[in-house]
Amino acid sequence: MAKNPFIPFSRPWIDDTEIEAVSQVLASKWISTGTRVREFERAFAEYLGVKHAIAVSSCTAALHLSLVVAGVGNDDEVITTPYTFTATAEAIRYVGAKPVFVDVQPDTLNIDTNKIEAAITERTKVILPVHIAGVPCDMATLQEVCDTHNLTLIDDAAHAIPTEYKGQYIGNLGDLSAFSFYANKNLTTGEGGMITTNSDAFAEPLRTMRLHGINKDAWSRQSQRNIWHYDIATEGYKYNMTDIQAAMGVCQLMKLNKQHERRRNFAHIYQTELAKFPQISTPVAPDNPREHAWHLYIIQLNTGNRDEFVEALREANIECSVHYIPLHLFDFYQERYGYRVGDFPCAEAAFERVVSLPLHPGLTEDDIYIVISAIGGFLSQVD
Ligand SMILES: Cc1ncc(COP(=O)(O)O)c(C=O)c1O
Repeated sequence: MAKNPFIPFSRPWIDDTEIEAVSQVLASKWISTGTRVREFERAFAEYLGVKHAIAVSSCTAALHLSLVVAGVGNDDEVITTPYTFTATAEAIRYVGAKPVFVDVQPDTLNIDTNKIEAAITERTKVILPVHIAGVPCDMATLQEVCDTHNLTLIDDAAHAIPTEYKGQYIGNLGDLSAFSFYANKNLTTGEGGMITTNSDAFAEPLRTMRLHGINKDAWSRQSQRNIWHYDIATEGYKYNMTDIQAAMGVCQLMKLNKQHERRRNFAHIYQTELAKFPQISTPVAPDNPREHAWHLYIIQLNTGNRDEFVEALREANIECSVHYIPLHLFDFYQERYGYRVGDFPCAEAAFERVVSLPLHPGLTEDDIYIVISAIGGFLSQVD
């Protein structure tokens, strides 16, 4: 039987617009941080309706700097989820604090807000939720807990563009939000990130800290014909974004609603068709379609072996992935922080059953139906 063409799990949605914009930056000979970064920041802030957007080199950098301005340091604790990519907890380690994991809700896979109070100690400084797959966390409850205990709310919004929560975009809630523009994200600059905040007190030091703590970036110095004179105003890091990345980001932002529409349409087909298989639990889909970025489409298997499922789809030329191996199951997190298998039963149970299906705007409806048909074929064999 002729095989269908390879269906990749994820691909960036790039066309001539990005290629032309990046070429213009290269031709201009100003290829590091400059006017394109400012333009991207302004457009990003305007899209979300947030006061400040500060472009950085990655979401990991965005999380790190957010923790620094929130005043988190050695021996502090940050409450987060084990059901995430290692970058979330890694950034907490950068500031010398401990990631205190709280188990997730079995359906959304987001942090279980009912379990947070029990994890708060006098060392807790921040709550750091992750909007898994693009489903918003319960921000109202998280804000309430933070207000009660005088904690900072920093959300990892790597998957959450564009995600609405009660009529506002994620990135415009809490104290600080960290976005990722990594190659597989809904909006990509290859590598890159953004911090958003409505707080002037956070934004000002962030702009300085992302480039060595220097009070004027190279573009400002060049444009003022004052190339060599600067002050180190604060502690700094090498986390600036380049104009090459930002030029791509501006184009991606202009296409964001269109790519979201395509993701939503594909997710809707998956939801409708896969609901016919009792062996599968489809992901939670909020009634309001704007409340899910559909960055990932994560199903949970109620029967059969997950690894065999992934392998069967691979045989059918379809690439799947698994999000996530809970962090407390990794050697490093067990050795450094003493976590053990069994600590977070919901995260572990989900991990055994989850598969992320292909979902990106470059797919076609035919591709989605090929994936659904391959799943049907596999399930008919395990019944
Ligand atoms: C939930 C989450 N947080 C943080 C990151 C880190 O993003 P970056 O690669 O931009 O540092 C990722 C990247 O995949 C992620 O999925």
